[in-house]
Amino acid sequence: MLDSIRTPYPHLTDGVITLRAFAYEDVSAVVAACQDPEIPRWTVVPTPYTEDEARGWFDTHEAIRATGIGAPFAILDAETGVFVGSIGLHDIDGRSHSAEVGYWIAREMRRMGFASRALSLISQWAFNDLALVRLTLLADVRNRASQLVAEKCGYLREGVMRSAREIKNERCDMVLYARLATD
Ligand SMILES: CC(C)(COP(=O)(O)OP(=O)(O)OC[C@H]1O[C@@H](n2cnc3c(N)ncnc32)[C@H](O)[C@@H]1OP(=O)(O)O)[C@@H](O)C(=O)NCCC(=O)NCCS
Repeated sequence: MLDSIRTPYPHLTDGVITLRAFAYEDVSAVVAACQDPEIPRWTVVPTPYTEDEARGWFDTHEAIRATGIGAPFAILDAETGVFVGSIGLHDIDGRSHSAEVGYWIAREMRRMGFASRALSLISQWAFNDLALVRLTLLADVRNRASQLVAEKCGYLREGVMRSAREIKNERCDMVLYARLATD
């Protein structure tokens, strides 16, 4: 972990999307997005997903940032402020200068380049501001959409980690992707 994530928590933007801390005003959008079965199918997002789940998750964020073990961000349309999805760093390790990235995009916002933009932005921030040198990403072997996002953002496929995750009581083989600061 890092000592802490820089305060105030950053707003990151490429002009098309903004990444910022989740706020309680996002609860209804997060709950609505997480009704799409594709999100709990490929992630640790629980199902069923209620407002209590969203609030409980937001409540963990301050400690996560303060202890430097992670960095969760809401993804918004930079122009309209409309909620787009979620992206975050997990398991930030200050000794190996590495972290894992995870993301999801609301169904109606998909195939518009938002995940790729968010992954590029958070990767640049992690390398430049947090001085991380290796970012990893695990995508289920059957989740081609997520693999395409990783590949588009310069993450290299390093292999398949057999039975690496348990998602909804199923052991899943995961493709390991990584990008280095020097790539
Ligand atoms: C995977 C996911 C995040 C992709 O988000 P997105 O915003 O639609 O992705 P992008 O628009 O940035 O697409 C990136 C590339 O992947 C391709 N792609 C995305 N979804 C695809 C799909 N379902 N089928 C085929 N190609 C797809 C895009 O065409 C694009 O390639 P291109 O630029 O060459 O055209 C989204 O589908 C999602 O949230 N899925 C459910 C949750 C999930 O799987 N999270 C990831 C867990 S590891």
